[in-house]
Order: sequence, then structure tokens, then C-alpha cells
Amino acid sequence: MKKISSLSLPAAVTALLIAALFAVTTAAQAPQSSPPGGSAPPPPPHVAPKPTNLKVLPKDMTGDQVHELMHKWEADLGTECSHCHTPDPNNLAPNGKPRLNFADDSKKEKSTARLMYKMVEDINTSYVSMVENSGEPVTCGTCHRGHPSPEPFVAPPEHDHDHEHEHHEGAPEGQKPPIPH
Ligand code: HEC
Ligand code: HEC
Repeated sequence: MKKISSLSLPAAVTALLIAALFAVTTAAQAPQSSPPGGSAPPPPPHVAPKPTNLKVLPKDMTGDQVHELMHKWEADLGTECSHCHTPDPNNLAPNGKPRLNFADDSKKEKSTARLMYKMVEDINTSYVSMVENSGEPVTCGTCHRGHPSPEPFVAPPEHDHDHEHEHHEGAPEGQKPPIPH
């Protein structure tokens, strides 16, 4: 038989801890609680509707996963949803502006983005993954860098025509000296 004293002390301590914890949590939540008397539950978190027109993304992606990826594309290209998605004049938001019809395929940028997505998948699975210890997959941002059309690359001046510094670091064996021009 267990002695009552060895059981009740930890139990009391636990009860106290729970009470303290409860007090802390309640206090922390107090500012956001509903008006006195009302115990209205918080609004349910918004769940994005299930996509209906995925042609290149995995078909089992949830609405939320698609939205997350779309926000990434938006940032990588420094653009907005409306760059690729068409407004629907028959679906007005409370502010009077047409909402976007995300499933619609009429913008050419959307088709281009599909091509781009397939290209990126191919680059990563067929090429980048073949590089030993490769840890940096290609993303839209690798090329776009916050622009809808990638900017042309301009080498920093020190690597352009000034070969002074490179002499001491040594050109690879057998490499011909640069042709003067
Ligand atoms: C660079 C172009 C581009 C941008 C910017 C973009 N999208 Fe998309 N979006 C696409 C493409 C392409 C698809 C279709 C993917 C497929 O076919 O698998 C798509 C699909 C979707 C879908 C699924 C539609 C359906 O029912 O099939 C939703 C929702 C969506 N986008 C929301 C957004 C939101 C929200 C934003 C802004 C945060 C956004 N998109 C920005 C190109 C874009
Ligand atoms: C390997 C480099 C590279 C990667 C990676 C890449 N793009 Fe592009 N993208 C380009 C180039 C180059 C163009 C053509 C730009 C031009 O001629 O204006 C372009 C054009 C586009 C365009 C049409 C131009 C415009 O004004 O809208 C869209 C849309 C686009 N890319 C979306 C994407 C998306 C989405 C991803 C990632 C899934 C992606 N790109 C990844 C290089 C890349």
C-alpha cells in the first residue's frame, strides 16, 4: 500500500503549478478576450479553397500550400498576384475592385510561369542534384532577383578588364593569357 504522504505532496505541488500556469495564460490572453459577458469564439482561421486547375504543381497541394508558394513567386519576381492572374469583373470585393480569378488561364504570364516552373524542376532534378554536395536548389529568385524579367548580368568592374590582380593568384595550368584588345 502506498503511503498517503508521499503521494499528496507532489500532487499538491502539481496542482499549484497548474493553477499558476493557468493564471499566467489567462493573463496573457486577457487583452484579446471578447467584451465582458460575451464568450464568442475567435473567428476560424481562413482556409484557402482547394485548387481546381493545377497543371504543373503537384495535384495534391492544398489551397494553403499553393498560396504559400504564390507568395514566394510574388516576392522572387518582385510582382503581384495580378501579374499572372486575371481580374473577374463579375466578382467584386467589398471595396468595389474585382477579385482575381486564380483558376483562369487567360494571362500569358501564367503560362510562362508554368513553363518556368517545369524548367526549374528540371534544372534541379536533372542537373543541380548531380553536383556533389549541392545544397542550393535553383528557385525563381536565382534568376529573377526581385524583377519580373531578369536583369542582364553586369560583371563587377574589378573582374572585367583589370587582370593585374589575377597574375599572382595564377591562371589555371595551360590557360592562354588573355588576348589584349
Ligand atoms: C509569376 C506568375 C504568378 C504569380 C505572381 C502568382 N501566381 Fe498564382 N498561379 C500561377 C500559376 C502558373 C498557377 C497554376 C499552377 C499549375 O498549373 O499547377 C497559379 C495558380 C494559383 C492558384 C490555384 C488556382 C486553381 O484553382 O487552380 C491560386 C489560388 C493562386 N495561384 C493564387 C495566387 C496568389 C494569391 C498570388 C499572389 C500572392 C499569386 N497566385 C501569384 C502563377 C502566378
Ligand atoms: C534560369 C533562370 C530563370 C529561372 C530559374 C526562372 N526564370 Fe522566369 N524568366 C527567365 C528569363 C531569362 C525570362 C525572359 C525575360 C524576358 O525576356 O523578358 C523569364 C521570364 C519569366 C516570365 C515572363 C516575363 C514577365 O514579365 O512576366 C515569368 C512570368 C517568369 N519568368 C516566371 C518565373 C517563375 C514563376 C519562376 C520560378 C518557378 C521562374 N520564372 C524562374 C529566367 C528564369
